[in-house]
Amino acid sequence: MLTNPVMTASGTFGYGTEYSHLFDIEQLGAIVCKGTTLEPREGSPQPRLAETPGGLLNSIGLQNIGVEALIKEKAPVWAGWRVPVIVNIAGETVDDYARLAGLLDGVAGISGLEVNISCPNIKAGGAEFGANADSAAGVTATVKKATSLPVLVKLTPNTTDIVRVAIAVAEAGADAISLINTLRGMAIDINGRKPLLGSTSGGLSGPAIKPVALYMVYQVAGAVDLPVVGCGGITTASDAIEFIMAGASAVQVGTAGFTNPRAPLDVLEGIEQFMEKEGINDIKELIGAGRR
Ligand SMILES: Cc1cc2nc3c(=O)[nH]c(=O)nc-3n(C[C@H](O)[C@H](O)[C@H](O)COP(=O)(O)O)c2cc1C
Repeated sequence: MLTNPVMTASGTFGYGTEYSHLFDIEQLGAIVCKGTTLEPREGSPQPRLAETPGGLLNSIGLQNIGVEALIKEKAPVWAGWRVPVIVNIAGETVDDYARLAGLLDGVAGISGLEVNISCPNIKAGGAEFGANADSAAGVTATVKKATSLPVLVKLTPNTTDIVRVAIAVAEAGADAISLINTLRGMAIDINGRKPLLGSTSGGLSGPAIKPVALYMVYQVAGAVDLPVVGCGGITTASDAIEFIMAGASAVQVGTAGFTNPRAPLDVLEGIEQFMEKEGINDIKELIGAGRR
């Protein structure tokens, strides 16, 4: 499906439209849009962002325009692009995911779904769907049943055994697995004596999480027979190549885009330069090349 291995990470590139005047976004392998819910969401209380050394904490709270507006306003624009757009979906119940997948099925301009399972399962006391192999598999199977689009399931690192979750998701029918979402964290304003983020805790992203993400990708790629998409702290082409050598078939660039909006394209061009220097014609020669 992809012409090259570099995508944007959900929530860090809007709907793509916001960036189309900055560089030729259609050169990317795919664009993954902001997490989409059934209803529009206003998101979390401010402040929603806090910088930490090497990382960024966010608690956006899935602010988004809702699936109906996405289908009406965004998909028709995407339908005119040559770059595939993958819609990231988020729900509070398994039924939310099924309805989202059903509504997005067959919509022109949408090439795939990425299922964000880092969301609280309201009917199970608020634990993340992706924290547990059974609930992760349940969401995956339900989404697969509701759509004919390729389904990418995005794992959370906030679990004790990500390999078990990955295997369960693969067995439930996922077409590919992306990882990782953000790591749960917090920061405190010592002068104000309160958490810096309006919702107390948030998700940590950026270079600080890269070694954790890389190892999880290494583990998951060794355990499942599906394409794995690596994500977490990728800022440069060499970061991306590490993920590919760990076993990822593609990568996503997120937080790096906040300091350099062109980061995904810079990463792609850097991979191409590396391949040329190494005399490699096919990226497949690099996938898993760093494994032992
Ligand atoms: C501001 C912000 C918003 C995000 N929103 C979403 C989202 O809506 N859905 C999702 O699956 N991941 C979301 N993420 C997680 C990223 O897609 C990515 O998995 C994570 O940030 C790690 O990659 P990075 O270090 O390259 O940013 C968000 C991350 C950030 C920083």
